[in-house]
Amino acid sequence: MNRVYLDYNATTPVAPAVLDAMLPYLRENFGNASSIHTFGQKTRSAVETARELVAALIGAKPSEIVFTSGGTESDNHAIFGAISELLVAPALLPGPPSEATFHSQHEMQNRTARSGCAAKTESASSAPHVITTVIEHEAVLNACQELERQGASVTYLPVEADGRISLDDLRAAIRSETKLITVMHTNNELGTVQNLTAIGEMVADTDVYFHTDAVQSAGKLPIDVNSLHVDLLSLSAHKLYGPKGVGALYIREKTKLRQFLFGGHHQRGLRPGTENVAGIVGLGKAAELASQLWQAAGRAAHRRTPRQTRTRLARQGPASPRQWRPQR
Ligand SMILES: Cc1ncc(COP(=O)(O)O)c(C=O)c1O
Repeated sequence: MNRVYLDYNATTPVAPAVLDAMLPYLRENFGNASSIHTFGQKTRSAVETARELVAALIGAKPSEIVFTSGGTESDNHAIFGAISELLVAPALLPGPPSEATFHSQHEMQNRTARSGCAAKTESASSAPHVITTVIEHEAVLNACQELERQGASVTYLPVEADGRISLDDLRAAIRSETKLITVMHTNNELGTVQNLTAIGEMVADTDVYFHTDAVQSAGKLPIDVNSLHVDLLSLSAHKLYGPKGVGALYIREKTKLRQFLFGGHHQRGLRPGTENVAGIVGLGKAAELASQLWQAAGRAAHRRTPRQTRTRLARQGPASPRQWRPQR
């Protein structure tokens, strides 16, 4: 029986050009990207090229891209990184407290001793507040639920009949304790696209961080982190014809995130651990293929008359995933 694979939101096959780009880094170019000798320099340069390609896909600077193990890690890093520093229960968090949390941990111990019970948050009203939606992927929903157990307060916005949140609901949910809004770009089951530009504009001049899980949209929709006004964005290679187990987190310059993993100085200490060079090269190549596709689509759209464009969009939607299919 000839089986047809239609579950491209679950994962995509690795594009042949991506595999070709990766193979040398699984064979002869095996150096550790942190080694200072020639073997290491070769892989370091491949990692930095991939960083540039991923940055170009979303309109970011290479220095704002941190490679991770995938969408789940990127989401967790963004959410816990933005909020956990603000909780008065850092002892509940994995890993040693950073300098900034040490003081509050000390305070918490005193308070716990005085009250005889575990202090969860400074007070219900000053607990950091997060806004998300009920349709997020579990990587976001379960991270938010864990934040609630650690003392944060979370609002889960419903979606309307069109699968999008109401901007009025969002505006009404924002309060002075709101520190993070995390709203996915494209839903993995519905395919609905949230109006990130409007959300980004709503919080652009505030100190509320705006994170989006763009795992399902990166490479499939044009993304510009500046016009969306996002501070944090998660993506994953295996959803855009790259390999599994590698992704990226965009962290806007000057965004203060608590360290999530503790270890060596890789990726400026933001994400310690020896880089998965072949995976990162694969993600970079997948990002490059997607960028080229968007550029070609942009040139074609430029050549079309407005009437032809309207007819094409009505028939096909904004981008044809058929163009993405790897050659067999
Ligand atoms: C919207 C969304 N976010 C996050 C993830 C998790 O990504 P990963 O599989 O790379 O951990 C997925 C995967 O299905 C997803 O669809």
